[in-house]
Parts: sequence; C-alpha cells; structure tokens
Amino acid sequence: MGTQKRVLVVGSGGREHALAWALARSPYVEQVYVAPGNAGTSWPATPRTGPWAPAAPCARVPVAADDFDALIAFARQEQVALTVVGPETPLAAGIVDAFQAAGLRTFGPTRAAARIEASKAFAKAFMARHHIPTGRHATFTDFEAALDHVRRAEYEVVIKASGLAAGKGVIVPQTPEEAEAALRRIMVERAFGAAGDEVVVEERLYGQEASVLAFTDGHTIVPMPAAQDHKPVFDGDRGPNTGGMGAYAPAPLITPALMDEIVRTVLRPAVDGLRAEGTPYVGVLYAGLMVTDAGPRVLEFNCRFGDPETQVILPLLESDLVEVLEACVEGTLDRVAVRWRPAAAVTVVAASEGYPGNYPKGRPISGIEDAEALPGVVAFHAGTELQGGRLVTAGGRVLNVTAVGNDLHQAVERAYEAIGRIHFEGMHYRRDIGAKALTAR
Ligand code: AMP
Ligand code: GLY
Repeated sequence: MGTQKRVLVVGSGGREHALAWALARSPYVEQVYVAPGNAGTSWPATPRTGPWAPAAPCARVPVAADDFDALIAFARQEQVALTVVGPETPLAAGIVDAFQAAGLRTFGPTRAAARIEASKAFAKAFMARHHIPTGRHATFTDFEAALDHVRRAEYEVVIKASGLAAGKGVIVPQTPEEAEAALRRIMVERAFGAAGDEVVVEERLYGQEASVLAFTDGHTIVPMPAAQDHKPVFDGDRGPNTGGMGAYAPAPLITPALMDEIVRTVLRPAVDGLRAEGTPYVGVLYAGLMVTDAGPRVLEFNCRFGDPETQVILPLLESDLVEVLEACVEGTLDRVAVRWRPAAAVTVVAASEGYPGNYPKGRPISGIEDAEALPGVVAFHAGTELQGGRLVTAGGRVLNVTAVGNDLHQAVERAYEAIGRIHFEGMHYRRDIGAKALTAR
C-alpha cells in the first residue's frame, strides 16, 4: 500500500468527522484533510497511543463540497492519494467522474451509479427489474394522474419526491386528504423544486427500520454491522423528523440469518444489477430497510455512508479503513479480511434549541474534554465553528457524542454519562437512543 499517504474527506458533518478520525488512525496516513469540515476536523499529530487517539494530523481546507475544480486543484497540489466523499449531493453531481477524469483516486459511486439514491423513480424501476423486495409503487410526472392513482390505490400510500431533497422529500400521510395535500405540495407548489418533477407513490410498510451499509468494489460485498437511526426529534419517536437524533450498532434486530437474507435478496442483486447495466457501483451502498412480517423490504438506497450511522459503525471497525477503501477503488475487496470489534457503539446527537425548526447559532460549547476523558468516548462534531478561538454552535445538530462499550448497555451508559458533561445554552437530546434494542428480546 505504501505509507505516508495524504487523504481528503469531502463534507462538513459528523459523518465526515468520523471518517477523518478513522482515516487518521491508519499507519498508512500522514495527513488528513477535510473540505470544508467543521471545528472538530482539525487536530495536530498525536502519538500513536491508545485505541482512540487519532494519530495523523487533520486540517481543514476552505473549499465547498460542490466546487469540484477547486477540490481537484487542491488534491493535485497536495498529491492526495485518496479522496473520500461523504454527502450525496456532490456524488449525484458527478464528483467521482470529475476526479477520475483528472486521474485522481476517489472513493464513491459515479454519477450514473449514484442514481440509486438521486432518483427514487430510477431506484424503484431498478428494484423491479432485479426483483429486489420493496413496496408496491407507481411513478408520476403528471399531477392529475398521480392524484387519480392515490384515490384508487388499494394500499395506504407514502408520497416521495423522486429527486434529492435533503432527506425531507418523503411524506407519510395519516389520511387520504393528507396524501392529496402532499402531492399538491410537491407537484404543484414545488416545495422541493425540481426534486418533485417526478413523484413516487409507494405502499406504506409496517415493521422496524434498520440501516444496512456495505462496502463494495462492484463485485465483492462486505456488509457493515447493521445500525438503527432515530429520526423523530423527541423520545418515543415523537415529534417532527430530523436528520437523525442518534444511532446504535450493531442492531440486534438484524440477526445473522436476516443479514444473509439481506445480502442475498437486496445487496447482491443491486450490485450485480448495476454492473450488468453498465454502471458498476463502487463505494458504500446503504439499504434503508423496513423489516416486515413478510421479510426485509427496501425503503430507499443511499449512495454513501449514513449520517449518523457512520459515527457508530466506524468505531467498531478493527481493520484499517484506508486499506478497505482503497481495495474498493482497486477492485480487490475480495483480498481484504474486514474485521469488526466484538463491541457496540451508540451516538447521541446534541441539538440546538428549536431544531429541527429555526435555531440560534454562535452559542459557546463546553465540557467536550471532560466527556472524552471517559473510556471509549469520542465527540464527533457536526455543526460547530471556532469564533475568536472559542468553540461555538453552528448548526442544528451540533455534536454526535459517541461511546463504544463491550455491549450496547455499556455503550448507552457511557454515551449518556459523556453527554451529561457537555453544555451549551438550549442544548437538547433524546434520552432513549438504543432503548428499543435494550427492551426488545
Ligand atoms: P426514505 O428517505 O425513503 O428512507 O424515507 C424516510 C422515512 O420515511 C423512512 O425512514 C421511513 O420512516 C419512512 N418511509 C419511507 N418509505 C416508507 C414506506 N413505504 N412505508 C412506511 N414508511 C416509509
Ligand atoms: N441516517 C439517514 C441517512 O444517512 O440518510
């Protein structure tokens, strides 16, 4: 592999902090860059001691994730050996194609392969072509036709804007009137802009949700420990949806037998199908699943690492992340034995006052060092900035306080003890992250 590599992470959230943290621990890496990053993605070289200390230094690069020309210029100038793309927007816009054209190694799917997330209409048609289990559905570009379908459908419906809508384009209506209003909002009022030019009307499914992410080089598939996200803002899954208020892994809901079934019926046909259609998929393939009484069903595919799932999955990775990612890019994933710690991880999101609605910024944050003094704890930054040398809030989701424990119970205890040591005005968080897995069984 060669040592002394420089690696670049594109993005600015907790997922990207976790990626940078994991990459910095590789003995092959001499420098990590994050563009544009946040206040957490900058640290000096640290001695390679203890399991948690990042070792290689990390620096921020003041370039936006959608400025491909500037990112390519930076990667060339700094002789970056590998670029890892966090968010879906640059992937859907073809950042990997642009980097490849410039002769730069990049981890992530091409624009064509990223359609699996960027177009829900494409994803549903693709799943039908390859017999991947998912809810019944129909796709529309015409409002009247969609309305007619919703009125006649034999199933309860979910309404989805086909394009990327920052996780907000899915509406699960409680009544037929709400379903029609959702169609009107997306197709007539264009609440999500061009993302709503096409709409998927889908059968509503019931069960428990799980996220199954896998590394793939286009042939070999290496699933990661299954995770569960917590989208609603309040305890007990109440209140409006957020970008995710916490996660844990592994999710006991996904037994080894169920994981085998998911690989066989979902991930394998997806990776083979994309390759057969001339758009081979390299990167992380993320299946958002509903585990129903009739088996797992795909709610959505994502073309990237999950946020906040990554913050609990990467701390469980025992293998070298650089080695795994490079093997994906090189098409040699079958030669890497990817190992996971026999442990569990939990992340609790510390959110700003008012989030997911409007929230203030610039509030001073304290206590992170005390929190990280606890065993197995690391506070990934999601929305933070430095203001005159002071750490302040800069987003709705501010920190992802993460803990690893021997089991889920210990991880939960540590994460909550840690977040209890952190303070900023108006901070709120869910108290029941992981509770579902601890009470089930
Ligand atoms: P998606 O972005 O497609 O994963 O949808 C966001 C959320 O909407 C999911 O995490 C589910 O909670 C919910 N959802 C999406 N599709 C369905 C469905 N067919 N049935 C029930 N809930 C759904
Ligand atoms: N945790 C949801 C997502 O990454 O899309």
